[in-house]
Amino acid sequence: MGAKEAKRPMDINVESFGKTPEGQDVRLYTLVNANGLTAKVMTYGAAVIALEVPDREGKLGDIVLGYDHLQGYLDNSPYFGAIVGRYGNRIGKGRFTLDGVLYDKLAINNGENHLHGGIKGFDKVVWDDEPVWKPDAVGVKLSYLSKDGEEGYPGNLKSTVTYLLTNDDELRIDYEATTDKATPVNLTHHGYFNLTGGERDILGHVLMLNADKFTPVDEGLIPTGELRPVRGTPMDFTKATAIGARIDKEDEQLGFGGGYDHNWALNKDGKQMTLAAKLYEPTTGRVMEVWTIEPGIQFYSGNFLDGTITGKDGTVYQHRWAFCLETQHYPDSPNQGNFPSTILRPGEKYETTTVYRFSTK
Ligand code: GLA
Repeated sequence: MGAKEAKRPMDINVESFGKTPEGQDVRLYTLVNANGLTAKVMTYGAAVIALEVPDREGKLGDIVLGYDHLQGYLDNSPYFGAIVGRYGNRIGKGRFTLDGVLYDKLAINNGENHLHGGIKGFDKVVWDDEPVWKPDAVGVKLSYLSKDGEEGYPGNLKSTVTYLLTNDDELRIDYEATTDKATPVNLTHHGYFNLTGGERDILGHVLMLNADKFTPVDEGLIPTGELRPVRGTPMDFTKATAIGARIDKEDEQLGFGGGYDHNWALNKDGKQMTLAAKLYEPTTGRVMEVWTIEPGIQFYSGNFLDGTITGKDGTVYQHRWAFCLETQHYPDSPNQGNFPSTILRPGEKYETTTVYRFSTK
């Protein structure tokens, strides 16, 4: 994939985006690549708050949900565009045992379970920032030190997340972390995408998931431990299928999620970058591919969006107005011996990458 001929200079603009109630400054980075694609990233929650990519006519449109101002994110954000951590997704009953020690003080913030790192997860803290210039990309490197005991987790965990907007029209996310005590780590990006540019719900988007199996869940959306073949079920996206084609079918798993809200076990052998998902939006021609080193992907069809949130430009986010594709290790891994491990130990480095690649057809 050679870089396209540069049509304009790349750019990074940094400005103030307000303050948190505690008085911390929040900054907003506007990244523009050589083809004019634009990503806006704020330091609160390390969140992508706008992502403008072209449709098949070359017209730019913002394909992520969010708010116009910081206040919306402070008041009520279902993780719009944020980095989720220290553990993305759920840990059953907010407890796990590690090296013989029981950790049972994780916040219970989702039914009887722990979700997305707790009450004040990585999506609700201000990250340190520095601009990143590369020959073929512009970006921002964000860092956050999560203290030993924060949200009930062991160890001082230093995380960095680097967003790069490349001239190949990719939003690349490089994650790194180190710790001084063994701890679970599972960082992910919680972008809410709508490739129409927010014109209508996402049921007409055509999705391919490169996964022959998924991790079925119980009513609380905690995996049962099984890896179940998708074949012959509404979970089968091995052939590109409209998201809405089977979403309302009578099905126990769809019932538990109120639609799709499950982890797919990606087809891969070990740690390599592979295609995890491909989306096509027929009216605009926009295509998004998701590539990742991670073993899993949570596909969430925006089931909790219900018209109560008014976002950017006064758009009311109705039911299933966006989808999330959260690359990750499987949910509840600290309690599931047969899932790939999420434990990071002192002296080790957590390193993972996910790429969202945009094109049209
Ligand atoms: C994840 C979860 C969902 C929901 C969304 C945010 O996708 O699995 O259940 O919490 O985040 O609302």
